[in-house]
Amino acid sequence: MKYYLTTPIYYVNAAPHIGHAYTTIVADLIKRFKGMQGYHVVLTTGSDEHGVNVERSAERAGKSPIEFTDAVSAEFKRQWEMLGLGIDHFQRTSSPQHARVVNDLFRRCRENGFVYKGSYTGQYCIFDNLYVNDAKPGDPCPDCGRPTETITEENFFFKLSAFQDQLLALYESQPDFMQPDTRRNEVISFVKAGLSDLSITRTNIKWGIPVEGEAPHVFYVWFDALIAYMSAVDGENLWPADLHLIGKEIVRFHAIYWPAFLMAAGLPLPKRVFAHGWLLFENDKMSKSRGNIVRSEPIQKVMGADALRYFLLREVVFGQDGSFSYDALIGRYNSDLANGLGNLASRTLTMVNQYRKGAIPAGGAGGAVAPLAAQTIQAAQTAFENFEFSKGLESIWSLISAVDKFIVERAPWKLARSSEGDAPAQLDDTLYSAAEALRIVSALLYPVLPESTRKIWSQLGMPGAIEEVGLTSLAWGGLQAGQKIGEISGVFPRLEAKPAEDKMRQLEAEVTAAQAVLMGKKPEPAPEGPAKIAIDDFLKVDLRVGMVLTAAPVKGSTKLMHMTVDLGEGQPRTIVAGIAEAYGPQDLIGRKVVIVANLQPRKLKGIESNGMIVAASVNDGKPVLAGFHEDIPAGARLK
Ligand code: MSP
Repeated sequence: MKYYLTTPIYYVNAAPHIGHAYTTIVADLIKRFKGMQGYHVVLTTGSDEHGVNVERSAERAGKSPIEFTDAVSAEFKRQWEMLGLGIDHFQRTSSPQHARVVNDLFRRCRENGFVYKGSYTGQYCIFDNLYVNDAKPGDPCPDCGRPTETITEENFFFKLSAFQDQLLALYESQPDFMQPDTRRNEVISFVKAGLSDLSITRTNIKWGIPVEGEAPHVFYVWFDALIAYMSAVDGENLWPADLHLIGKEIVRFHAIYWPAFLMAAGLPLPKRVFAHGWLLFENDKMSKSRGNIVRSEPIQKVMGADALRYFLLREVVFGQDGSFSYDALIGRYNSDLANGLGNLASRTLTMVNQYRKGAIPAGGAGGAVAPLAAQTIQAAQTAFENFEFSKGLESIWSLISAVDKFIVERAPWKLARSSEGDAPAQLDDTLYSAAEALRIVSALLYPVLPESTRKIWSQLGMPGAIEEVGLTSLAWGGLQAGQKIGEISGVFPRLEAKPAEDKMRQLEAEVTAAQAVLMGKKPEPAPEGPAKIAIDDFLKVDLRVGMVLTAAPVKGSTKLMHMTVDLGEGQPRTIVAGIAEAYGPQDLIGRKVVIVANLQPRKLKGIESNGMIVAASVNDGKPVLAGFHEDIPAGARLK
């Protein structure tokens, strides 16, 4: 039984970050999960290397396109190795095998009458590689806001318009083809609105796959990129793919273009496309301009790859957007991994050592733990099967808590002091049950936490590799009485939040600088100070005197202060500001401060802030609030 899955092949004009890692980590999880169900699993990822943007990035970096793409694709590979991901094929669109398969598919589509030559003039966004339909010259791209360019050229076109009915029939007959349902519905409405033909070649670009016998045409973007899923496994009998995992922004290409290309070529369609949501940084879009892009490497170095995996899978509901923050990452780690799983492993194994000389005793039924374990085996697998990873993890953690409670109730430390009645048998049963539950938990968690569950597995003294455990036959009683446990060592040492975050932020700056060099960015020249603005620009900023009425630190954050501030408007405003490390509530209540009153509201830790407090700081050190020596009423405007 084969299972072939893919991640998107990533553009090489951005260095890898946690967003790319997210998809690739989930793919690795599914690979391990399916592997434990007995499938022969093959995972493809890769790099999308052609196009104008890459030509331009390479030029900026002073490299040829291939030198540039060699370097960046190697960086992606290095990331996946660092995170220990089980990639089988890393497909580069610059590879000769890929060029051959793309040309094959083109030939098939053409022979079947779905390709024609035409001329096209349109507004094009070179950043997103998209023609912007209905745009006029000078219009910005609706996605990124950059100006579009007018392009006229002879192109080969793909008759996408011919596939409307077949595509709708596909979504109808195979509801699983595009998931989750929200995305499927979007796609259906889009297709129902009518499809335009697609230009699939360019003549004004050199860095692309030549269309055989049709110089100077080269294939363009999606007709090149999507086919990587097939070319990666050319000749391996793995097509069609069982799953394409993607982010929600490329749904249209995967659910409309891709099946249409394959239908036109007369080839089998992938079985399923699943789109996850976006990973945000503290609820904001990650972007270079905001300087808030998070990379995986610092997290892996400080907390380990499993900590990152766990956070992404537990904290984010797969399919929906989710938010990353250092607070949440470290919080989850300490509460669930260090205090939860790690603690269960070390206390259980330590007791086996202490009370039974390191040998697993013969066990009994394990009270309520055994039936709960049986339920968890079912629930977790069903959830994982449905890509409900956070739900699956929740059910596994309920078992962990139940075992903790069971240990406390049985109090093995008391049983160990008594040799009367059934105390020794009770102790055996308790230790066996805790260790057996730990074995089951580890096997279920292996796809999510491969590195640490492997350690727990060997500490339990289990023979064989954890990944060889057949999930379908996982059941209570697998632990052998008499089995010697291995050497115990902590799997998830507790982390001090502040130093861990500081260390990660420091590494983040280093990694970002190194990646900038890789991408050919010259170090930024020292800023000459902000550009001069006209008085009108300044007057757009509504600065007001505000009086702080209430202040309290935001729970779960060291920096944020939640305040209500009177701006003379009758109704006080809620304002959240990053000043809690410098000021306590008592320093603030009753104080007159300066507020930017016309900023768009912004959510911080789930609280909507309706203004920004003005403060100065030296080299990003502690903020010092702006204020007045004379008294001035709340609501007065500064200008
Ligand atoms: N090259 C195309 C895909 C071609 S597939 C035939 C592309 N590349 S990309 O580098 O922009 O990668 C997009 C993918 O990276 C997303 O679909 C998603 O899988 C992942 N992500 C990148 N940033 C992300 C977040 N901030 N959050 C979640 N996933 C993100 O599009």
